[in-house]
Amino acid sequence: MSRVLVLHGPNLNLLGTREPEIYGRTTLAEIDARLLALGAELGATVECRQSNHEGVLLDWIHAARGTFDGILINPGAFTHTSLALADAVAGVAIPTVEVHLSNVHAREPIRQKSYVGAKCVGTVSGFGPDSYALGLRALVDHLSARDSAGRGGVPKP
Ligand code: DQA
Repeated sequence: MSRVLVLHGPNLNLLGTREPEIYGRTTLAEIDARLLALGAELGATVECRQSNHEGVLLDWIHAARGTFDGILINPGAFTHTSLALADAVAGVAIPTVEVHLSNVHAREPIRQKSYVGAKCVGTVSGFGPDSYALGLRALVDHLSARDSAGRGGVPKP
């Protein structure tokens, strides 16, 4: 059973009322509830946390070593600014999937650069709350493919 840590970065606690024309009306609590249910369906444990503080997110990523098998992260605006979060993801070497509600590639130029995404297994962007569900499925799939490769199975390319 994979253990997945879900991290939400700054301002995502405001989901539901924050710029709904961009981020929709689904609240963070609703997203988390959906991820817990999906995790149970996929045979994964899911723990969700949100912080507006870069250092707190860094500490959670560091502490995930030995406790979580994978990380699903929406780094919010830190996506585009934080070399430190990118270094943390690379440093702990825990497979990480980046997700965004909006399609960051279709937005302002500054949002088209992701420091964090460069250190992730992959990124899902632009599907609203479904980005999280798709990202969780991809992460759990990646982790089980990696485990079966470790047991002599065929790794995914
Ligand atoms: C976001 C995109 C970021 O550019 C923005 O700063 C956010 C949310 C998204 O989920 O679409 O806070 O990560």
